[in-house]
Order: sequence, then structure tokens, then C-alpha cells
Amino acid sequence: MCGIVGYVGSQSALEVVMAGLKRLEYRGYDSAGVAVLADGGLAAAKKAGKLVNLEKELVEKPLPTGSTGIGHTRWATHGGPTDANAHPHLDNAGRVAVVHNGIIENFAVLRGELLERGHELTSETDTEVVAHLLAEEFSATADLAEAMRLVCRRLEGAFTLVAVHADEPDVVVGARRNSPLVVGVGEGEAFLASDVAAFIAHTRSAIELGQDQVVELRRDGVTVTGFDGRPAEVRSYNVDWDAAAAEKGGYDYFMLKEIAEQPKAVSDTLLGRIDAAGNLTLDEVRISASELREMDKVVIVACGTAFHAGMIAKYAIEHWTRIPCEVELASEFRYRDPILDAQTLVIAISQSGETMDTLMALRHAREQGSKVLAICNTNGSTIPRESDAVLYTHAGPEVAVASTKAFLTQLVACYLVALYLGQVRGTKWGDEVRAVIRDLSQIGGAVEQVLQTMEPVRELARSLADKNTVLFLGRHVGYPVALEGALKLKELAYMHAEGFAAGELKHGPIALIDEDLPVVVVVPSPRGRSLLHDKIVSNIQEIRARGARTIVIAEEGDEAVVPYADHLIRIPVTPTLLQPLVATVPLQVFACELATARGNEVDQPRNLAKSVTVE
Ligand code: M6R
Repeated sequence: MCGIVGYVGSQSALEVVMAGLKRLEYRGYDSAGVAVLADGGLAAAKKAGKLVNLEKELVEKPLPTGSTGIGHTRWATHGGPTDANAHPHLDNAGRVAVVHNGIIENFAVLRGELLERGHELTSETDTEVVAHLLAEEFSATADLAEAMRLVCRRLEGAFTLVAVHADEPDVVVGARRNSPLVVGVGEGEAFLASDVAAFIAHTRSAIELGQDQVVELRRDGVTVTGFDGRPAEVRSYNVDWDAAAAEKGGYDYFMLKEIAEQPKAVSDTLLGRIDAAGNLTLDEVRISASELREMDKVVIVACGTAFHAGMIAKYAIEHWTRIPCEVELASEFRYRDPILDAQTLVIAISQSGETMDTLMALRHAREQGSKVLAICNTNGSTIPRESDAVLYTHAGPEVAVASTKAFLTQLVACYLVALYLGQVRGTKWGDEVRAVIRDLSQIGGAVEQVLQTMEPVRELARSLADKNTVLFLGRHVGYPVALEGALKLKELAYMHAEGFAAGELKHGPIALIDEDLPVVVVVPSPRGRSLLHDKIVSNIQEIRARGARTIVIAEEGDEAVVPYADHLIRIPVTPTLLQPLVATVPLQVFACELATARGNEVDQPRNLAKSVTVE
């Protein structure tokens, strides 16, 4: 939440920062602002609404040119999305500017103290207190990094802060506690940003900041210390995402591009994890085989779409390993005193690696002695760094707020972990593992096949643009797929959408069915588990008998559903457990098209942010 950019170098800071903000706008788009140091002073501009409003403001009232600057795109927490609450916030003398991501929990006390000391505060934000505190500490130390350290020690909560001071024109200072901040190191220039997308057009050389660290950026180098002032150890890494991956590449929306990238993302996530003989080799899982054999429970924690991936993983883990597996919303997890110990393997799934609820859940698990394995898409992010091991998904940058390719790759990673557990615990024979790997290797092609047949789905979506509600039903792994379909529609089309386990319908939700209500049904394969298939065919008949308009997603060759489907969406034949990898795709396309037909912002749905870094 909230995108932050800082720059010092020899280019126009305003241009670098604005371009960076453009790439980070998916993190929040309630307001935006910039500050540059120039001509011995500090100049700032900020505007409520999307970045485009700030761009217009800068055309009407240009800022002076300087080569040190900071910028921010906001997802509002304290105070509404107004010009006054937009970042940067300045001190009363207008010499210091600060941008912030997170929540400063003790801001009311600090604000009271500042008011008593005669400061004038003009916004409703928690951030503004930091600008004033920095100004006070700077007047005593004449050192912005030291001022930042002193201020940070007084702050409670989660925060990333980036600040500049007119009296130190070649310095940008950042601080991080529990919120993301990465450093980019270029030739004679340096960058700070909430994520690498903001600077990969300039450099791929990055430094990961740890907890409670302050970084001082100068043209010729970067200094990192703890909040206590002691030099800190940092990890440098090379960003393997290329700049083009974070561009729309000719598509109208990032979401469309990311849906189209799924076949590659799925295949890339298998790369390097299967040896020439078709065996699974997960070297990244740095939890020893003997420890994994000792595990008597798996607990998956995640939020939103990642939670749905976890729900699907449960079926694979329990089926292939016979270890009990619980899946829990990360935001609920630590508050119910879960039973955890060294024999519990906790799997934290997160695209961004920064979701605060998931981070807090994994910290809680580690405090109880459990090992945590992260499944994550973002190198250098907090969740993998704080986990015992990480399996990276190779989806590339996911920019659209609605998660698509990350979800499919999370599923692939979950299947790999489940197979690996089965392999080391001896519940799966080598040939069984190789057979599933073979199936997984073909999924990229199957997803591509689905993508080639989506025009009727788009047409259907357009025809439903005036509906108020859509229901989604599924059984077995189709149930989390139904939940995912409903989530996509809610967040993009702003429609009432709900996913149900089809068998639960008769226990209440069937009362919702009325004439012409669209109901999407995800049908399991008729092969193998035909009982499950038969049951859902009965469920379709039940809702159709009550007037529902049935939209049926069923495997090629499944003729049993034909008489009961008002609309039939075909997906390729896949093994039952892997079906979500193909069945989810039409639901993504459906939600995207319906949102477009309703005139909604597809990549930046209202009230949302891509990376949710507050609890
Ligand atoms: O970055 P994460 O995977 O931890 O994010 C979790 C959720 O916030 C995320 O999946 C969210 O539900 C998506 N916007 C759904 O499309």
C-alpha cells in the first residue's frame, strides 16, 4: 500500500520520480505528490486522485529542476484522499519533506506534543508528525540520517519513511520497519522505492533493507545502519525482472497482459525444478528431509487470492502426503491462539511478499517454533526473508491489482511442495511423482488452449453487465475456484458475487436463486471421481429448476452437463487436482470483461491496493 520513490543522481529527479510513481501507482491511487530539492530550497506539489491529476498540476505549475527528489502515491489510512492529506508532508519552515507507507500508531500522542511545542499541523494524517519531528531533530544534529534514526526510535507501528531536507541537497534518507523499501544502486545515482518496478528501467542492482534500518542515499554510495546507528549488514541482489515486463506491452490493461502471460508463468515456475530424468528437485526448500519427515501437520496462511491457492493446495497435500493440512486466513490466524509446534510446517503464500497479515501470521508461527516455508513471487521482499525457506514463483511482475498469473503460479508451487513432501516422506513413489510432473509440464499448453477460446466468455460477460448478482458454485478443488471467480468479480465489477460449495446450496443459499440469476458452475471431471461429477450435475439441475441461468465450466467431452447448461465453457481435460489451473482462467476473463463493460478501472479497482501492508 502506498508507493514510494526517492532519487539522488544527475538526472531530473522529477522525471525519475514521476516515472517511478507511474509504475507504483497500482499500490495506491487516492492521491499523489512529489518534492524536489533545487536552488537551495524545497519545492513540492501534491494532488488528490490519480497520478494524472498531479501530472496536470505540474504542467500548470512546474517545479524547479533538481536532481534529488521523493514521491508518493497513496492508499489512504489516516484522513481522506484530499490535497491536504496527500504526501509529501512538510514541516512549518518548508525545509523537510517526508513520504510514508504504513501506520504510525502513536501519532496522536506525538501530534499533541508537537502542538504544545507550537507546531502547526495542517493535515489529518499520521505522517505529518514525522516531518515536524525530523525538522526538530535536524536542527539539533544537522544530519538527516541521524535525525531519522532519532525519530524512528520514537515511532510505533509499521512504516516506511523517505525524507529530504533542503540543507542536505544531495541526500535522500529512508527508514523501514515492517513495510517494504528497496534500494537501487546505479552509476552515480541511487534510488529508493517500495518495489523494484520503480527503478528497473535504470538499474537492476538492488539492496534489500532489513527491519529497523535507516539508509542514506548519496550519488556515490549508500550507507545503511540500524535505528541505533550501528552499521547494518545488507543483502545485495540482481533483479531478474526486465523493465518491459512491467509495461503493458500493447495490451489495454495490465490484467489482460497478465492473463495472457499465464502459460509462460506456469511453465517458468517449473523451470530448474525438474531434473533430466523427470524427478523433482526442490533445492530451495532448505528444511531438511528429516525435519519434513517429522512434520505431523501443515498449516497454510494467506490472504485473498493466495488463500484460495492455499485451499486448493490442501486437497493435494492431504491426498499425496496424508498429512493433515489446515488453511487459514492470515488475518485471523494469530488471534485465535492456533496450535503450533516444531512438528508443524507452516506455508505462507504471498505474491507481493509484503502482505502484513501474512507476515504477522508467519512471525507468530516462528515464535511457536514452527518452520515456515514461503511461496512468493517477489525476490527481496519481507515474507521470504523472514521464512526458513522460500519457493519463488516465476510469474514476473504482477501489476494489476487483481491477481491472475500469480495465482496460477502459486498453485504450481503448491503442487510441487505437496509432491516434494510426498517424495521425502515416501507416500509417493518416484514414478507417481514423475507422472504428476508430466501433467504439470503440459498445463502451460492447456492454459494457452483456454485463452484461445475466450471470445464467447467475453460476449457472455458483456451481456450480463446490468446484472446485480452472480453466484459461483464448485465442489472439491472447484469450490476454491468458485470463491476465486467471485472474488475477481467483486473486486473488478463491483458486483455482488458469492462462491459456494455446491453441496451447501440446499442448506440455505439456494433461497437466493431466482429467475435468470446467473450461476457459474465449475464441474469436476467425469473421469475417476464420477460420484463428485454426478452430484454437481444434480446441483445444476436443482438451480435450473428454480430458474437460474446456468453458466457451466466443464471438461471437453463431458456430455452429461450439456442439457442443463444455458452457456457452456469448455476446458481441456486435466487430472482432477490440477483442474483449477485451467478452470480459473475463464473466470478471470469473465470478470475483466464484465468490469470493462461496466466502465470500471480494470487495473486499479476502487478502494483497493495491490500490496496490503497494513493489518
Ligand atoms: O501479495 P499477496 O499475495 O499476499 O496478496 C494477497 C491478497 O491481498 C491478494 O491476493 C488480493 O486478494 C488480490 N487483489 C485478489 O485479486
